[in-house]
Amino acid sequence: MEFPKYRPRRLRRTENLRRMIRETRLSVDNLIYPLFVVAGERVRRQVASMPGVFQLSRDEIVREAKEVAKLGIPAVILFGIPQEKDERGSEAYSQSGVVQQAVKAIKDAVPDLVVITDVCLCEYTSHGHCGVLKGREVDNDATLEILARVAVSHAKSGVDIVAPSDMMDGRVKTIRKALDESGFSQTAIMAYSAKYSSGFYSPFREAAQSAPQFGDRRSYQMDIANVEEAIREVSLDIKEGADIVMIKPALAYLDVIRVIKDRFDFPVAAYNVSGEYSMIKAACERGWLEEKRIVIEILTAIRRAGADMILTYFAKDVALWLTREPS
Ligand code: PBG
Repeated sequence: MEFPKYRPRRLRRTENLRRMIRETRLSVDNLIYPLFVVAGERVRRQVASMPGVFQLSRDEIVREAKEVAKLGIPAVILFGIPQEKDERGSEAYSQSGVVQQAVKAIKDAVPDLVVITDVCLCEYTSHGHCGVLKGREVDNDATLEILARVAVSHAKSGVDIVAPSDMMDGRVKTIRKALDESGFSQTAIMAYSAKYSSGFYSPFREAAQSAPQFGDRRSYQMDIANVEEAIREVSLDIKEGADIVMIKPALAYLDVIRVIKDRFDFPVAAYNVSGEYSMIKAACERGWLEEKRIVIEILTAIRRAGADMILTYFAKDVALWLTREPS
């Protein structure tokens, strides 16, 4: 069919016509909201590079979790900022750690809210790397055992899903085995499978106080130029027992999301990371972009690329926009 018989504009005329042929839906069901937990009480500290994002103490986290649930968002992901850091990140698996306590408190207050925990050592190590060191290198196999302890400690607190973000080889297998052996066969794993060594994480490292004290993360996170390697990483994680695979960041990696969705019949998550959030916030503060429109456009694009779930700091705003007024 061609012009003048076919006129694509016919179905663009009104909002209802556009709604009828819309191919991608962005729903509150797709959203996961990240939260940063700190020690103490009544702490609500704004992250300077992420306006609208706060470090919260346990009581404040519970308040936030209730609000998130009320908005219809199905899940939160927790990141912990411990009081003490050491070489091995041992606070990460303490049963009285900030994350473990927060998981328990959320599960008591809002049992239906899905709680996910980030499993990594970078917030907990004095050197800020995602694993333990041997000289100046991150020791893969020595780190695995610690990550497994962290995951089991989160499971003991009642977490629904653990999300290893360290990028050590073999961690999904090690964590799955440890969970099963400890009686947590129902605790799911959302693997940060294709996590790139990206410049878009800078604001997060301020939020989580997790910047590496020397060097960078290029020896364990993926090279930004690779997509075949992302397929290999996802394939490994699925074989090792992942229930959900994640691509991170999202915006500069839409092609990777598409390839993974096409190649694997598996739930795919995408992390709309801190830098993607902050650059929009900064542009909107200056009046250069219109926040609601841009955010809906970007999140719809991430869905269109193939993501089933999106981890995003915009989750609460989007939930409000989607429920109050259709866009
Ligand atoms: C921890 C971790 C990071 C992010 C999620 N988990 C930071 C990093 O790898 O340096 C980034 C999230 C964001 O930028 O929003 N390993």
